[in-house]
Amino acid sequence: MTELWLIGIGTGHPGHLTLEGRQAIRDARLILVPQKGAGKEDLADLRLAMAREAGATARIVRFAMPVRDPALPYQDRVARWHDEIAEAWQAALAGTEVDGPVALLVWGDPGLYDSTLRIAERLRPAPRLRVIPGITALQALTAAHAIPFNTVNGPVTVTTGRRLRDHGWPEGAETVVVMLDGACSFDTLDRPDLQIWWGAYLGMAEQILEAGPLAEAGPRIKEARAAARARHGWIMDTYLLRAP
Ligand SMILES: C[S@@+](CC[C@H](N)C(=O)[O-])C[C@H]1O[C@@H](n2cnc3c(N)ncnc32)[C@H](O)[C@@H]1O
Repeated sequence: MTELWLIGIGTGHPGHLTLEGRQAIRDARLILVPQKGAGKEDLADLRLAMAREAGATARIVRFAMPVRDPALPYQDRVARWHDEIAEAWQAALAGTEVDGPVALLVWGDPGLYDSTLRIAERLRPAPRLRVIPGITALQALTAAHAIPFNTVNGPVTVTTGRRLRDHGWPEGAETVVVMLDGACSFDTLDRPDLQIWWGAYLGMAEQILEAGPLAEAGPRIKEARAAARARHGWIMDTYLLRAP
């Protein structure tokens, strides 16, 4: 592979795919699609449907997504996982004649809480990289609720559920957007003054939204999240918290 394109595809709505993204999907010669295991076929299917709808003529090559080793400390676990994903890409392409750009369809934007770029850096020989930006979960969330991302001249902290749980409310923060939270970490905050805007399956037919004072909306979100996760077998959610 001499050229690798990371195409941001947005968060599940076909309309999130930009004209540049659609053209790149059409121009790619091979598309690598991750298989994430039982119960997560929806996402692989959605990627393929978007590629087909955009007019892809590329060969589709699937690779099994490695799983993280829970026995390792967090940083080592992630680094090892990235090594294994790079190896899985290379194994999937071994013996395959590639006569043009290889593409990966990246959820949201490739630069936001996504490690595809870090994984691509592990490839040897290093391919030429091209990144096509996509609509992020942050944009899908604020648009779905019709709220601004920031207050006038205000800062925004974007963080993960893990950091919120481990370190609490970021010092001096006004607006905090939380991603990658499998555990409703807002529940660990003792901040009844916060407002929350929450969204799951943003941009998809299954989209669910909740908003309000954290003390009232928090329990509703926990209940809705657990029910939706049980129904679909997976969930992706993002929320924005704002201090008065
Ligand atoms: C690995 S990160 C990928 C972020 C992506 N690169 C982006 O630009 O939005 C996965 C996290 O993104 C958020 N996310 C992605 N798609 C989402 C969706 N459709 N609805 C809600 N949150 C989503 C969730 O917080 C999820 O845990």
